[in-house]
Amino acid sequence: MELKEFAQMVATRVNEFMKDYLQSFDDAAPNLKDAMSYGLLLGGKRARPLLVYATGLALGQDIKKLDFAASAIECIHAYSLIHDDMPEMDNDKLRRGRETVHVKFGQTVALLAGDALQTMGFELVSDPKSNLSNQSIAKLTHILATKAGYSGMCGGQAIDLDSEGKHLELEKLRLLHSKKTGALIRAAVLMGAYSADHVTEAQVKTLDEYATWTGLAFQVWDDVLDVIGDTKVMGKTQGADISLDKSTYPSLMGIEKAQEYAQECAQKAISCLKTLDIDTTLLEQFALFTVQRDH
Ligand code: IPE
Ligand code: IPE
Ligand code: MG
Ligand code: MG
Ligand code: MG
Repeated sequence: MELKEFAQMVATRVNEFMKDYLQSFDDAAPNLKDAMSYGLLLGGKRARPLLVYATGLALGQDIKKLDFAASAIECIHAYSLIHDDMPEMDNDKLRRGRETVHVKFGQTVALLAGDALQTMGFELVSDPKSNLSNQSIAKLTHILATKAGYSGMCGGQAIDLDSEGKHLELEKLRLLHSKKTGALIRAAVLMGAYSADHVTEAQVKTLDEYATWTGLAFQVWDDVLDVIGDTKVMGKTQGADISLDKSTYPSLMGIEKAQEYAQECAQKAISCLKTLDIDTTLLEQFALFTVQRDH
């Protein structure tokens, strides 16, 4: 299957799964539930679930056993975007072609929707209904927690906010990107890998290297799109990083060098896959997609 077709299958599958899960919540706090649905279900490429499925399937896992992990990481991602857009962080008004959650529902509800999506992610990943072994569930939960938290995404967001208006060294920018975006991309691949019953530590190590380069490529290209992208196509405001004086690859090395660097990262990711004895076509195509996409 080609990546495009696979991505459509993943989006349909994960959207249905998350919608059903949210619908099972009672209606005690309708605003909160609506804000969670809005932030989770309306749009998005579902890149992280795609990586969970592509990795798990390549290692022979049954697709049904991957649904909980795939949805869990998307919940963490959705929470991170809701908070990222709030006035205290990037102060963005447009996301996925719509008003951001805090603009539509107010800041209090947006804050809680992010919090509740984060815990929903942990409800899902720790749910025994996934039919994974208890050992795998514990492993996946630990991966998600560490990659989302202080040493991963939250830590990266903290460096990002602290770096506004400053000129970061490239090494520090790379650290920032590897945490704020790379960590969840790694989590997606690692969760897919550890869902599989017979994965070896050597395979995990190689897949993690692939994910590290892919995560960097993904965020460098996100920075590039802030300069060359189209607001309508991206569904978020072009030039947002520029107006906040963010440290980004284009701001530090210029737009052309940043584009070249993103391509190099994607190629490095692909070269990691060569030693694996599983079908990595989708992972390869995904690495290329990260630096060819227009949104
Ligand atoms: C945007 O992520 C934020 C970053 C970590 C770069 P995505 O580009 O995956 O956003 P959606 O989910 O497709 O909207
Ligand atoms: C990634 O950074 C955001 C998260 C880790 C949530 P950005 O701030 O660059 O993401 P966009 O550009 O707003 O989607
Ligand atoms: Mg941000
Ligand atoms: Mg942002
Ligand atoms: Mg960005």
